[in-house]
Amino acid sequence: MLTGAVIGDEGQVIELEWRDGARARFHAMWLRDNALDDKTRSAGNGQRLITILDIPADTRIGSAMVKAGALEVGFVPEGKTVTFPAAWLRDHAYDRAETRQPGWTGETVQRWTKATMQDRVPRASLAAASRDRSVLRQWLAAVRAYGFAVMDGVPAESGALCKVSDLFGYIRETNYGRWFEVRAEVNPSNLAYTNLGLQAHTDNPYRDPVPTLQILSCIENTVDGGESSVVDGFAVAAALQAENPEGFGLLSSYAARFEYAGSSGVRLQAKRPMIELGPDGELICIRFNNRSLAPAVDVPFAEMGKYYAAYRRFAELIEDPAFEVTFKLEAGQAFIVDNTRVMHARKAFSGSGKRWLQGCYADKDGLLSTLAAIEHEFKEAAE
Ligand code: FE2
Repeated sequence: MLTGAVIGDEGQVIELEWRDGARARFHAMWLRDNALDDKTRSAGNGQRLITILDIPADTRIGSAMVKAGALEVGFVPEGKTVTFPAAWLRDHAYDRAETRQPGWTGETVQRWTKATMQDRVPRASLAAASRDRSVLRQWLAAVRAYGFAVMDGVPAESGALCKVSDLFGYIRETNYGRWFEVRAEVNPSNLAYTNLGLQAHTDNPYRDPVPTLQILSCIENTVDGGESSVVDGFAVAAALQAENPEGFGLLSSYAARFEYAGSSGVRLQAKRPMIELGPDGELICIRFNNRSLAPAVDVPFAEMGKYYAAYRRFAELIEDPAFEVTFKLEAGQAFIVDNTRVMHARKAFSGSGKRWLQGCYADKDGLLSTLAAIEHEFKEAAE
């Protein structure tokens, strides 16, 4: 509930106060651009109908009134009156004192370690997630919060992993195909089907953009060992930052190079940091893959020694069992990882038997969009 509105700075700014004492300032230009009337935004799809150039550069607030808890603003020189609901203004307030440290993440992201996650790996069955929107919502929300989740009850047959991506979006096809085989045998005829362990990594850092989600499904797994493990790259990055802020700064401010040219007709290259921050310091992406890291040529000579020390320490922390959550993927199970955040690894395996997994990529924006749409549905149903 709005209780007061005071125009300041010759109409360029307005300061609002709510009943609970909260205050926030808004600029006249910001309010005009974000006006909610049907001449500014389409009533049908919510998209903006005007450009910034349609708004006079000397836009000011000529009048302001709190009416039935909402704010009515008169803009000059247009002579246009627009009403803003109090709750909308509160939700969109940008006049905050908070200072964000580099490496911050939004409130939907929750970092985890072995201690906090090993016994509560998020999971759902494909049948329940397909049938029940609240189960799907929980599972998708776990991917958003923790960057991974397991799915049970996936048919143990080729291509069944598409049923998982169908729950929220679309497969991202690459040069590896719509999906790819991760098939390994204990005594392989081809060295590609090795039974060696794989260091925790993110997939395909040589793409730009990287695949943001990966799904791995298990069709057969009768070997000894071969467990899957996941590591929260955001938790590891925070640990590195806490003990070595300078190293964190180096890995986030200089680009690494990644390359893949392992098959003919493909020469993928990307130039991006191992720890990527957004312009406001938000931690947005981890890229870590020893197999496709190319020579670093963007780090100044004077910094390269420290850069490599930071890379080594980052790798040591990633290997630290305290960060590792392990599970054995059985036939009929799949897991999804947010490839911009959570690293995955495979333990070595032995004995007789086969390990046959399939993998595919999908897009996180689609998953988050589906989740937001379900949350919106639930909210509307509750109102
Ligand atoms: Fe991988």
